[in-house]
Amino acid sequence: MAPALEVRNIFKQFPDKERGITHDVLVDVSFTAQAGEFISLIGPSGCGKTTMLRIVHGLETSTTGSVLCNGVAVKRPDHHRALVFQHFNLFPWRTVHDNIGYGLEVRGDDRGKRTDRVRLMLDLVGLGGFEDYYPHEISGGMQQRVGIARALALNPDILLMDEPFGALDAITREKLQRDISAILERQPKTTLFVTHNMDEAIYFSDRILVFGTKPGRIVEEVKVNLPRPRQADTIRASHEFAEIREHLWSLLSKEMQREDH
Ligand SMILES: Nc1ncnc2c1ncn2[C@@H]1O[C@H](COP(=O)(O)OP(=O)(O)O)[C@@H](O)[C@H]1O
Ligand SMILES: [Mg+2]
Repeated sequence: MAPALEVRNIFKQFPDKERGITHDVLVDVSFTAQAGEFISLIGPSGCGKTTMLRIVHGLETSTTGSVLCNGVAVKRPDHHRALVFQHFNLFPWRTVHDNIGYGLEVRGDDRGKRTDRVRLMLDLVGLGGFEDYYPHEISGGMQQRVGIARALALNPDILLMDEPFGALDAITREKLQRDISAILERQPKTTLFVTHNMDEAIYFSDRILVFGTKPGRIVEEVKVNLPRPRQADTIRASHEFAEIREHLWSLLSKEMQREDH
């Protein structure tokens, strides 16, 4: 059986308009994800993490290389892959209910089917009772719950999250991390997760792809063999956690030094 996701030899160049040249943003990036696996992409800013996620989603095309989702080449965005953004990207004129149901509407699901699915998602992310609120009437943490519910509503094969907790304060972030982790423990989903937070990457992941800059590429793949279900507090206090963190830090600081030169 084909892996849930296969990223093969991705090269991506962007034009540098100021200098009239092209620069290499991603160089020979390859990895696979098995169904239900949680994989983090971590690395200094500008190393191409967002670009990589957008290529997997189909929003961006690679210069060369290919992405296969369950053995089928990705050509454009479709409902097999759903993206959660750092800045939520909700429609301000739509209620919580209609934001969550947006993808279902685009897909052509009828009203009754949509409402049932949205209700299930509201419960899943803990937003029952808020369906008629507008995004500006709820907190950032709640807005991101809507973003996550909207992505999961389509029951995608692959969930893509680009620094989903990056715009939240520390306490909201912690709470949402725990809730998302609990949701994914109950219903494992193949996930690619971009972060530059090492603790977050270890807590969630089965594997962490450490990216380097100039050009963006995978420096090392770090396995996280911590048992599941994971309790945030116990995990963080463990010896294994400290060891992985130390290793990630040594890889990332090397990359940041390269960047400085
Ligand atoms: N549409 C674009 N046009 C030109 N350059 C881009 C574009 N998008 C991203 N880049 C460049 O590609 C590099 C990687 O960006 P990005 O994927 O956003 O990195 P990260 O998410 O790791 O911070 C950066 O140097 C950025 O300036
Ligand atoms: Mg980014």
